[in-house]
Amino acid sequence: MSVTTQQVGKDRIEHASRDELQALQLERLKWSLQHAYDNVPHYRKKFDEAGVHPSDLKQLSDIAKFPFTTKQDLRENYPFGMFAVPREQVSRIHASSGTTGKPTVVGYTAQDISNWADLVARSLWASGTRPDDIVHVAYGYGLFTGGLGAHYGAERLGCSVVPMSGGQTEKQVQLIQDFQPSTIMVTPSYFCNILEEMERQGMDPHSSSLRIGVFGAEPWTGQMRADIEARAGLDAVDIYGLSEVMGPGVAMECAETKDGPVIWEDHFYPEIINPETGEPVADGEEGELVFTSLTKEAMPIIRYRTRDLSRLLPPTARSMRRMGKITGRTDDMLIIRGVNLFPTQVEELILDIPELAAQYQLVVSRNGNMDELEVLTEIRSEFEHFDQNRRDAVVSRLRQAIKNNIGVTARIQLREPGQVERTVTGKARRVVDLRQKP
Ligand code: DLL
Repeated sequence: MSVTTQQVGKDRIEHASRDELQALQLERLKWSLQHAYDNVPHYRKKFDEAGVHPSDLKQLSDIAKFPFTTKQDLRENYPFGMFAVPREQVSRIHASSGTTGKPTVVGYTAQDISNWADLVARSLWASGTRPDDIVHVAYGYGLFTGGLGAHYGAERLGCSVVPMSGGQTEKQVQLIQDFQPSTIMVTPSYFCNILEEMERQGMDPHSSSLRIGVFGAEPWTGQMRADIEARAGLDAVDIYGLSEVMGPGVAMECAETKDGPVIWEDHFYPEIINPETGEPVADGEEGELVFTSLTKEAMPIIRYRTRDLSRLLPPTARSMRRMGKITGRTDDMLIIRGVNLFPTQVEELILDIPELAAQYQLVVSRNGNMDELEVLTEIRSEFEHFDQNRRDAVVSRLRQAIKNNIGVTARIQLREPGQVERTVTGKARRVVDLRQKP
């Protein structure tokens, strides 16, 4: 099944013609559907109920005939019900914690782990990382796919890997100073904490050895990229993935174009659907991202609804399509007094104001029948000396920007540097919705 690798991290298929790529996708898609149908009772039942059989797939667009898979399906088959190989052939198990209910479990054969390492190696190459680089991994190790996924890929590329994991921010800075890594793999929000810690220690982040930041696992805006690049003097590139589909490295942005992650379409078949109707939408239109795995053995996944909102964009640096930056998740969307709002929209407005730091949290509450939005944000340390009048002016600029661009009246709480909740090990908590409490 594997496409010959010319050099680790650089696969010929990345530059193949669309025809060649689609022929490979069709062959692999047929295999994946059959594999799921033959070996996972859940898929057999779902396909039979929908009146479709793997042999009904004659062309790629026939995928739309097959039923979707959701997180709920994974939960109902907890822990190993979605596996398509005998348990003895499963060499790794990951799980996502999830805020409610049982975790979602995913499994990998040795071949799956190897393909994953190849794809992360390919992703790192696309970021500009090379085999003689030192890679500092600050994604959490453990059941989360970030740490180990990044690690195996960096090792596969031939790099020297520092498995730092998340947390212990002071130590992160010390190891960066002592080991001189050129690439860091970390969530963008936690990287902001590392930058603050460098500054707190009197170090100029520009003087660090870091040249490349491979940031993902949470939404981040173009403004956040510009802010991080200016503060740290590195190239910030976007890595996307999710545990149900594999982990980090489902898609990766190329350093030379920085125009959205390239989906590694030889292993994952992407679709965008209208989240309300489930109907496919055309390339370029926004909707929910759906993936079908093409090569996974232990846990094939058919039309998985990611809940991530994005668009499919035409190929540029590689022959494969790109995805637009994730604007949010269908389940992250806040509805405030009837207005739809994603945290990333507020992030863009905050980072347009030079006095404000890239740290924020939205607190939503209900007062009687009225939803209330409070935006906690921080003044940057360079502007800490601002008197009340100048602070009031900053607050009123943000309030006005939110009102004009989003259409919601928000209360703004301007805090001192370091006073908005920090992520401890990974994904930032951008929303606190007090309305959901009983
Ligand atoms: O976050 C895998 C990963 C680890 C990706 C490290 C990149 C780097 P999960 O914990 O299953 O897996 O969470 C997946 O995180 O559906 C998105 O909502 C979000 N996400 C991941 N990468 C990005 C990104 C990992 N680059 C969920 N931009 C996904 C925006 C992202 N959101």
